[in-house]
Order: sequence, then structure tokens, then C-alpha cells
Amino acid sequence: MIISYPSSLLPARILVVLLLVGYATSAHHHHNNHVSKNATNQILQQAYVALQAWKRVIYSDPMNFTSNWDGPNVCNYTGVYCAPHLNDTNVLVVAGIDLNHADIAGFLPDELGLLSELALLHLNSNRFCGILPPTLSNLSLLFELDISNNRFVGPFPSVVLSLPSLYYLDIRFNEFEGQLPPQLFNKKLDAIFLNNNRFTSIIPPNLGPSTASVVVFANNGFGGCLPPSIAKFANTLEELLLINTSISGCLPTEVGFLYKLRVLDVSFNQIVGPIPYSLAGLAHLELLNLAHNKLSGIVPDGVCVLPNLANFTFSYNFFCEEEGICSNLTSKGIVFDDRRNCLPEKPLQRSKKECEAERPVDCFDHVCGKSTSSSAASYHIPLSSTPPP
Ligand SMILES: *[C@@H]1O[C@H](CO)[C@@H](O)[C@H](O)[C@H]1NC(C)=O
Ligand SMILES: *[C@@H]1O[C@H](CO)[C@@H](O)[C@H](O)[C@H]1NC(C)=O
Ligand SMILES: *[C@@H]1O[C@H](CO)[C@@H](O)[C@H](O)[C@H]1NC(C)=O
Ligand SMILES: *[C@@H]1O[C@H](CO)[C@@H](O)[C@H](O)[C@H]1NC(C)=O
Ligand SMILES: *[C@@H]1O[C@H](CO)[C@@H](O)[C@H](O)[C@H]1NC(C)=O
Ligand SMILES: *[C@@H]1O[C@H](CO)[C@@H](O)[C@H](O)[C@H]1NC(C)=O
Ligand SMILES: *[C@@H]1O[C@H](CO)[C@@H](O)[C@H](O)[C@H]1NC(C)=O
Ligand SMILES: *[C@@H]1O[C@H](CO)[C@@H](O)[C@H](O)[C@H]1NC(C)=O
Repeated sequence: MIISYPSSLLPARILVVLLLVGYATSAHHHHNNHVSKNATNQILQQAYVALQAWKRVIYSDPMNFTSNWDGPNVCNYTGVYCAPHLNDTNVLVVAGIDLNHADIAGFLPDELGLLSELALLHLNSNRFCGILPPTLSNLSLLFELDISNNRFVGPFPSVVLSLPSLYYLDIRFNEFEGQLPPQLFNKKLDAIFLNNNRFTSIIPPNLGPSTASVVVFANNGFGGCLPPSIAKFANTLEELLLINTSISGCLPTEVGFLYKLRVLDVSFNQIVGPIPYSLAGLAHLELLNLAHNKLSGIVPDGVCVLPNLANFTFSYNFFCEEEGICSNLTSKGIVFDDRRNCLPEKPLQRSKKECEAERPVDCFDHVCGKSTSSSAASYHIPLSSTPPP
């Protein structure tokens, strides 16, 4: 599901997306019949300059994607897709570049800013390194940016914040570090993939309403608590993945305000305290994974009776009671895992000694971010190490 959100686009999908982008954008513009053939040539000429500059800083191309990147006819280059200019359908422009899975090593040169009509840039699974050039801010039509599974470094690439048309952002599996900018969550983005980087701060406490339907934070070293501001995602968020992000503290009641959620996975963290009763409001929830935390108290009936719940994993915690139907999830056809808790009637639980050593937590007193990281051992997590095609 989440991790397999389509990141690699077949040419057919590229065309579909280009058409969608074209329709969406052209609605705001008047048709301009005065764009001359010369202007056509100028746009493709600029693209030629950009792509030749790019080819010069490509040091390895084992699959020969760029070996035909010669001559001014850029529309014939492998991985380069041309489409009619939005204001003049007689004029071709470079609207998409798809080098997914090319295993290319190199940099992104400043000249990429010359590709001013680009709507899609897909570089999934290459060996591009360095940073995103600030000139990318010139790409005012860029709609999908996928640079996942490369070797980009440095702070969050803030140039993406200046892209007015951006809708889909995938920067997972790189080596970005430091803080996430609050503005990221205020952009009109549908999907935000940040997993498997080295980011160290989670959602900022103050932000406006987000438009994202999918946010994947997994496998970063955020630390701290999940802030109540998560509620700002309520109008759109369907999948929230916080696996292995060093989150501690209690789950805020506000998680239960994310009424569109289908997938909630907070496994492999140091979360303490009870399951908030508000989770009983997540009527669309299909998958709930709380495993490998330090949650305690009751597994509430309100969660177990959720109409769409199909898979409820709460193993490796300190729950001591399953309320109502929670003790017989099989009877509801729910796939579950309740091992390694402190449930007196169930097999494969923790020892009495372990359970007694775990003191209950008062979430009102609990100081965020002060939890010990004694259980922060690295676990094997079944997130594929490369994003799928
Ligand atoms: C447009 O192209 C024609 C020939 O292709 C050329 O004669 C003319 O000078 C060009 N105009 C401009 C403004 O570049
Ligand atoms: C790429 O081109 C080189 C040189 O022409 C050739 O030796 C190699 O086999 C090609 N690789 C692939 C994957 O086609
Ligand atoms: C571009 O590709 C098309 C179709 O493959 C071919 O007919 C055309 O001659 C090519 N143009 C150039 C300049 O290579
Ligand atoms: C289309 O033309 C309008 C004005 O005629 C202009 O404002 C807009 O930027 C143009 N769009 C593109 C993509 O060039
Ligand atoms: C931005 O795009 C325009 C064409 O629309 C081009 O003339 C200009 O040089 C580009 N700027 C950069 C920094 O690449
Ligand atoms: C249920 O969810 C857990 C945790 O996300 C996953 O490992 C497991 O494969 C799922 N089981 C089924 C049958 O989907
Ligand atoms: C769970 O429910 C099923 C059918 O609803 C029943 O047959 C079974 O005995 C129950 N198991 C326990 C442990 O209560
Ligand atoms: C958990 O995340 C850390 C980085 O924050 C990483 O070093 C570790 O390998 C991750 N665990 C797994 C199994 O992915």
C-alpha cells in the first residue's frame, strides 16, 4: 500500500498526468496565438542547453539512458517527454523527464532551471548526489518531483517550497538531515514521502491546515512527541506512517481527529501511556499498528468494533486488559497480533516480572521528549530498502 504509492511512471501515465496538468493550468490562461515558431525553438534550445549541461555532470550511466542525448532534437532523447505548450499547441516543450531506475551517477546542474515548462521530474533509484540546485525554483509548472532512492544530502531541499504547482513530493531514501520546515505542511501537496532520511524534527507545533492524503515519516530520527498539531491534517490525511521515528510520550487525543485515516502505523517507537479513546472515532481505519512501543492499560472496545478494521497489531507493549470484543478479534474476522503484552488470559505474554516493572504513565504529567531510549535498539522493519518501481 503506502510504500508502493506509484512513484515510477510509465510513459502512458506521464501523458495522462501531463494532460491533467495541462487542463488544470490552462484553465487559468488565455490562449495566446502569438507564440511564434521561433519561440518554440527557443524553448527547446534552452532545454538542449540544460540537458547537455546535465550530461556533462553524469559520470556513470550503465544502462546508456543518456547515450542518445546528442543534437538539438531533445524530444528524441531517452527519458525526455515533450508535450504541446499550454499556450500554443503547435509548440513542443520538454514537459517530463523520467530516468527512474537508470542507476545514473552524477549531479543536478544549475542549468536545469532552464527547463521552465517541466511538469514531471522522476529520478527514482539513481545515484545522483549533492543538493537540488536553487534554480529549480524556475520550474513553475513542476507537479511531480520524485528524487527518491538517490544520494542527495544536506538540509531539507527548501527550493521545493517555492514550486507553486507541486502536488507530489517524494524525497525518501536519501540523506537529507536536520529540521523539516513548517511551510512544507502548508503547501498544497497530496503526497509527502520523507521516510528513510536523517530528519531530526517532526511536525512543527504551529501550522495551518494541510492538504496531504499520505504522509510517510518512517525511519527518521525525529524524537520528541507527536504534537497535537497533527489534527491539522484531519481534512485530508488517509495514511500516516510514523514507524521507527524515535517518537516518545503519549499519543495525543488529536490522532483520533484524523477521521479519514485508513492506515495508522506508529510501530517501533517509545510511545507510552494508554490508547486514546478518541481512536474509536476513526471509522475508516483498516490497519492499526501499535507494536513495539511501551503502551499500557486497556485495549478499548471502541477500537475493536471499528467497522473497517481488518488488521490490528499491538504486540510488544504492556497492555494488561482487552475490553469486550478485543479479547476475541477472530470472531470479527480481524487479523491481530497481541503477543508480548501483559494479558493474563493470553499465550505468549511477557513475564510477570517484566510487567510489574512497567509503571503506569500519567499523560498529563509526562514530559515530552524525556523518555528513556533504552528500547531504541534497531529492529528489523519490513520497509523495503528501495522504493518499488
Ligand atoms: C525567426 O526564424 C526565422 C527563420 O527561421 C528568422 O529569419 C527570424 O530572424 C527569426 N526571428 C527571431 C525573432 O529570432
Ligand atoms: C552501453 O553502451 C556500451 C558502449 O556502447 C556497451 O558496451 C554496453 O553494453 C551498453 N550497456 C547496455 C546495458 O546496453
Ligand atoms: C526522432 O525520432 C523519430 C521517431 O523515432 C524519427 O522519425 C526522427 O527522424 C527523429 N528525429 C531526429 C532529428 O533524430
Ligand atoms: C500563457 O500566457 C499567459 C498570458 O498570455 C501567461 O501569463 C502565462 O504565463 C503563459 N503560460 C505559460 C505556461 O507560458
Ligand atoms: C528561467 O526560465 C526562463 C525561461 O522561461 C529562462 O529564460 C531563465 O534563464 C530561467 N532562469 C534560470 C535561473 O534558469
Ligand atoms: C497486519 O499488519 C501487520 C503490521 O502492519 C503486518 O505485518 C501483517 O502482514 C498484516 N497482516 C495481514 C494479513 O495483512
Ligand atoms: C470467539 O468467538 C467465537 C465465535 O464468535 C467462538 O466460537 C469462540 O469460542 C470465541 N473464543 C473465545 C476464546 O471466547
Ligand atoms: C530505524 O531508524 C534508524 C534511523 O533513524 C535506522 O538507523 C535503523 O536502521 C532503522 N531500523 C530499521 C530496521 O530500518
